[in-house]
Amino acid sequence: MRILIIYFSGTGNTARMAEVMQREFLAKREHCVLMPMEEFTLGKASLDLGQWDLIGLGYPVHALDAPQIFYDFLDSLPQARQPYFLFKTAGSSILNGGSTLRIREKLSNLGWRLRHEQLYVMPPNAFGTARPSKVEKRYYRCRSLAQRSARAIVAGIKNRVPEAPFQKSCYAFARLEKHGASQSSKRWIVNSNCTLCGLCESQCPSANISIQDGKHVFGEKCLLCLRCWWNCPVRAIDHKFLHPFLLKEPYTLPED
Ligand SMILES: Cc1cc2nc3c(=O)[nH]c(=O)nc-3n(C[C@H](O)[C@H](O)[C@H](O)COP(=O)(O)O)c2cc1C
Ligand code: SF4
Ligand code: SF4
Repeated sequence: MRILIIYFSGTGNTARMAEVMQREFLAKREHCVLMPMEEFTLGKASLDLGQWDLIGLGYPVHALDAPQIFYDFLDSLPQARQPYFLFKTAGSSILNGGSTLRIREKLSNLGWRLRHEQLYVMPPNAFGTARPSKVEKRYYRCRSLAQRSARAIVAGIKNRVPEAPFQKSCYAFARLEKHGASQSSKRWIVNSNCTLCGLCESQCPSANISIQDGKHVFGEKCLLCLRCWWNCPVRAIDHKFLHPFLLKEPYTLPED
């Protein structure tokens, strides 16, 4: 099988699950390639479905839904009888990470056919605590689940994450978060520790950051993915409103 896994990941959890699955597919002698979603949404790559037998789609749960970039990507997909699997990472098991109904409906309307679905409860990258022992425990649990999922996918075994209760409330919450993300997009602040290395600008998945005359300019397209905050080498980035909900510092997932 030729498998392409397209994922969005702000701070590395979803990317890591994609990597674990890729390794398992390769161990089963399947062909598997990974592609960050922003390669497509920023127009750096184009998707040729003819090259792939199976597509994997992954996202981090944001307010019990997928981030906007995931929906933007779905809107760019062609009609096809395309088998796919879906996975999401969340920082808690609350309401099973929300509903995937809208995603599944969008894809089903295009003719895409769901083969497998999985939720990985990873350490939270915000809105919680991430002690090293919790990070380690959750990661290893998710790693074995991802390995099992990959084997199940190869064996053609279906799986569905139980549908979240209070579906309408979940989507209302998600609408609020998406509104909040754009409203607070310009509220990132950069302090004097900044060395103007340019990493945040080059890594932002929505091209929301530009450095002009030595100053950061944030646009209105923030996804609240936290990547700029997470990866700044000198911890120079903060957010005016989100500060109380951010972790004290980013964590590193255990090596495999
Ligand atoms: C803006 C935002 C909203 C989030 N909302 C939820 C949520 O509703 N439920 C949840 O369990 N985790 C939530 N999380 C935590 C992430 O889903 C979780 O840490 C995820 O694994 C991060 O994946 P990533 O590292 O690939 O970005 C949220 C994180 C952020 C930044
Ligand atoms: S990553 Fe940090 S140090 Fe580098 S330009 Fe951005 S804010 Fe400045
Ligand atoms: S500005 Fe930061 S949090 Fe917002 S989309 Fe860009 S990298 Fe993510």
